[in-house]
Amino acid sequence: MCGIVGYVGRGEALPFLLEGLRRLEYRGYDSAGVAVYHDGEMRLTKTAGRLEALERKLVEHPSAGTVGIGHTRWATHGRPTEENAHPHTDCRGTLAAVHNGIIENFAELRRRLSAAGHVFRSETDTEVLCHLVEEAYAGDLAAAVRRAARELVGSYAAAFLSLAEPHRLVAIRQDSPLVVGLGEGENYLASDIPAILARTRRAVILEDRQVAVVRADGVEVTDLEGRVLGLQVFQVPWDLAQAEKGGLPTFMLKEIREQPRVLRETLRGRIEGERVVLGELEPLLAGVRKLHLVACGTAYHAGLVGKQLIEGLARLPVEVDYSSEFRYRNPILEPGTLCVAVSQSGETADTLAALREARRQGLPTLAVTNVVGSTLDREAARVLHTRAGPEIAVASTKAYTTQLAVMTLLALHLAQARGTLPAAQAAELVRSMVDLPSWADRVLDGEEAAAQVGRVLAAHRDVFFIGRGLDHALAMEGQLKLKEISYIHAEAYAAGELKHGPLALIEEGVPVVALATQPDLAEKLASNVQEVRARGGRIYAVAREGDERLANLADQTMLLPAAPAPLMPILGAIPLQLVAYHAALQRGCDVDKPRNLAKSVTVE
Ligand code: F6R
Repeated sequence: MCGIVGYVGRGEALPFLLEGLRRLEYRGYDSAGVAVYHDGEMRLTKTAGRLEALERKLVEHPSAGTVGIGHTRWATHGRPTEENAHPHTDCRGTLAAVHNGIIENFAELRRRLSAAGHVFRSETDTEVLCHLVEEAYAGDLAAAVRRAARELVGSYAAAFLSLAEPHRLVAIRQDSPLVVGLGEGENYLASDIPAILARTRRAVILEDRQVAVVRADGVEVTDLEGRVLGLQVFQVPWDLAQAEKGGLPTFMLKEIREQPRVLRETLRGRIEGERVVLGELEPLLAGVRKLHLVACGTAYHAGLVGKQLIEGLARLPVEVDYSSEFRYRNPILEPGTLCVAVSQSGETADTLAALREARRQGLPTLAVTNVVGSTLDREAARVLHTRAGPEIAVASTKAYTTQLAVMTLLALHLAQARGTLPAAQAAELVRSMVDLPSWADRVLDGEEAAAQVGRVLAAHRDVFFIGRGLDHALAMEGQLKLKEISYIHAEAYAAGELKHGPLALIEEGVPVVALATQPDLAEKLASNVQEVRARGGRIYAVAREGDERLANLADQTMLLPAAPAPLMPILGAIPLQLVAYHAALQRGCDVDKPRNLAKSVTVE
C-alpha cells in the first residue's frame, strides 16, 4: 500500500503535495518523493525514509511550480531506497509517474521494454508504467495511458505528469483507490479522502478502468475506450480525523474491515490456476526436511497454524518457538532445517535475535514479514511478504490473517512440490483460496453477532477459549486479542485438556468461547462443551454454517461460511477480533493504543 497525490492549479503545488502525503502516511512511510513542473522543467525530489527527510531536502532545494505529483511508499518490489522511491520517469526524464498497487506482469513487461532499448533505473514494478506510456505516446497523454493500460495485469492507481502536456495530470485506476478533489481554480488527486479534506469536500471517486484528466479549470473522466463519462460528484460527510480512519472510529476497526482487500493483495500473483507459485522461494526449499518457526505474540500464533498446515498437508515436521525462548533453550537444529521467522514489523528484537542465531548455526532462513526493507527483510535469505499495508492499531488483525494466508500458501506449495496430497485435493484447496476475500466479506457481515458477544464478555473478569487442532491455535489468538485490548483475563485451552484441570474453574455463568471450525473435530468438541454446560458455563460458539451440533448447545453462535478446513483459521480470526474490539469499546478502553504495549517491540 502506498499513497499518491497530485495538484494542478494557480497556487503552489508543493504545500498541497506535502500536506496530502502527511495525511496518507498511514498507507506507507518507507520513502517519499515529489515531481513539480515549472517553466519548462520538471524537478524531482525523493528520499528514502519518512516524509520529514523529504521535507528537509525540499527546504534546502525548494521546488516552485503549480503542477505536481507526490508519493509516500510502502515497498512491494524493490527495497526502500532513494532509487526505488517514486516518482519514476521514462528514459528521457520527461514523464513522471507515481503508483500505488502491484503490476503483476512487470517482469515480463520490463524484459520486453528493455529489449526495445528502454533504460530502467530502479527495481520497481512502477517504472514499467513510465516506459509503457513513453512507448505509447503519440501526442495525447491520456490516450497513451489508456493504451498502456491494455498491457497491464495487476492493481494500480497511478498519476502521470508530462513535460509535453505540463498543465494537466492524467490518472488511472484499477483495484487501487483514487479520488479527484474538486477545488476553485485548482484540482487535486489522492489515494484517499483525508489527503484532500483540508482543501475541499467535493470529490469524484474514480472507478476501475477510468482515466481522469485533471486541469486547473476542470476534470474529465473517460473509460478505457476514451468515451467521456459524466462526473459523479460526492460530498464528503466526514471531518479530517474521521476520514483518516476511513470514517470509522478507530484504526483497529478499519484494519479489521480491510481484511478482504489485503487478503486479495496477499494472494495476488501467487496462485496460477490450480498451483501455488512462490517464485521467491526457489531454490531455497529443495532439500528442506524440517521447518523451525520463530515468532512472538500474534505472529507466534500464525506459526502455530502454520505448523499444523505444513505438517498436515506437506507432511514435513515443523517446530514452533517463541523467538524469546529459541536462543536460550539450545534447540536441536539438524541439517536440512529451514528457519522461518514470522514478524509483522520485521523489527521485533527477539525475532531478529532468533534469526541471527539460526544463521549463526548455518541454517537457511526465510522471513514472513509485512514490512519491506525492515531489518528482518534485509537479513533473511528469502522473504515472503504479507501485503497487509501499514498496521497502525497496536493489536494485530489484518497482519495476522495475511500471515495465515502466507502460511497456507507455503503449506500448499510444499504439498504440491512433494506430492503429499492427491492432486485433485490440492488443486481444489488452491482454487478455494481465491474465494477467501469474498468469504471474509461475508464474515464481516456478521459483525453484529460478534459485537453482542463482546458486549456480554465486557462484564466478566475471566473468559476461556477452547478448540481442538487448528481451533486450538485460533483460541490462542482469540484470548490474546481479548486480553490485550479489553484487559479481561483470558485463557486458551486445547478443549480435550479441560478435564485435566481447568474445568475446576468453570462455575455458574463463566463464559467460554468454543471454536468449532473443523468439521472432523466438531463431535469431540461438542462433548467438551457439554462438560462446560453441565457446570453452568455459558457457551459462545464460532461454528460453520450448516453445522448445527455446536449451535444447539451454545448460548450464542457466530457463524462462518463453510470453507475448506485449512482455510477456516483465517475466517475464524475475524469474529474473535470483533468480539475483543466490542468488549474493549464497551469497557471504554483505548482500543488502538492499549496500555503498556507498543506496536513494535525493539527491545529484548
Ligand atoms: C498482538 C501483537 C503482538 C505482536 C508481537 C510480534 O496483537 O500485535 O503480539 O504480534 O509483538 O510483533 P511482530 O509481528 O511485529 O514481530
